[in-house]
Amino acid sequence: MKTTFFGTQPYDRDTFCRINEEFGLQLDFHRSHLNRRNVALADGADAVCIFVNDEADAATIRELAARGVRLIALRCAGFNNVDLRAAAECGITVVRVPAYSPHAVAEHAVALMLSLNRKIHRAYWRTRDGNFSLHGLLGFDMYGRTAGIIGTGRIARALIEILQGFGMIVVAYDPSPDMAYATSQGVEYMSLDELYACSDVISLHCPLNESTQYMIDAAAIGKMKRGVTIINTGRGGLIHTEALIDGLKSRRIGAAGLDVYEEEAAYFYEDTSDNIMRDDTLARLLSFNNVIITSHQGFFTREALDNIARTTLSNIKAFAMSEEPLNEVKA
Ligand code: NAI
Repeated sequence: MKTTFFGTQPYDRDTFCRINEEFGLQLDFHRSHLNRRNVALADGADAVCIFVNDEADAATIRELAARGVRLIALRCAGFNNVDLRAAAECGITVVRVPAYSPHAVAEHAVALMLSLNRKIHRAYWRTRDGNFSLHGLLGFDMYGRTAGIIGTGRIARALIEILQGFGMIVVAYDPSPDMAYATSQGVEYMSLDELYACSDVISLHCPLNESTQYMIDAAAIGKMKRGVTIINTGRGGLIHTEALIDGLKSRRIGAAGLDVYEEEAAYFYEDTSDNIMRDDTLARLLSFNNVIITSHQGFFTREALDNIARTTLSNIKAFAMSEEPLNEVKA
């Protein structure tokens, strides 16, 4: 069973090769992303392994099927970049890593929140330049503030535990609320409008799909508390970026911590520092002193990388042994 990996970085190759000593699978690594133009790299492979910024749209999937690929193994949790219907039509099985370390992403969301609140990103540069002034660095106590959590799955629950440790009040929205969880953890479910109206910090932890795309748009931002902090470690497409920029300019949004960005595929995970930035929206976001952008690194801890590799290789091995597919994603 040969698996072609797309979009790999040195740390992916190191981790997968080390964990593969337990599995003995044939792995072939490529740096470039999967898309319609380079699908030929999968020639001779039974499976492809892809990540968040690879494009498995219908045309690419048909090309993969024509080359004999029978499995798409996502080495991530989200699957919004795979056309599941096209995969089913072509007889390609899709598997993913549903959970590898919810703590990694939750802790990164907290890092963004605290950095923005206490202006650590600005203080770091100031003190290095001999500027010990506090002007502009005023933050607020997290204690007693309200955190609005959208989506209450694995990552959100890890986050909620941390925020409650700060003494924050946690409110949440989820179309499939878990009342037993809410009661036992002291979390109050409410409508999105109610959450927008009362939250000092809003953090997004739902999947990107047709119903959640651009859920944070001008109308939603208009309902939020003035000065709200928005944290997005979910997917870029959850936020209408132009509306976010307008909200930042009008100061309705006090700060934004973004680990994901709708057009991230052209930039994230690459060193583009020698080039002129062509994405004016990203350039505008980067110009705000109350915005921190990280390059989709929420998952990036040693524990998470090991878990991702182990689950992905288990998924591929189970498929190769003709067992029931593990962690299958269906249309
Ligand atoms: P999960 O599947 O455990 O939880 C998702 C929750 O969202 C569920 O409770 C579901 O009911 C809820 N949901 C579904 N539709 C919703 C809607 N319209 N509004 C509000 N909530 C809704 O997922 P998990 O593991 O907590 O991950 C959440 C998201 O985080 C993933 O879909 C992925 O996009 C993103 N992610 C980001 C990473 C990063 O490195 N920044 C790493 C891993 C995941």
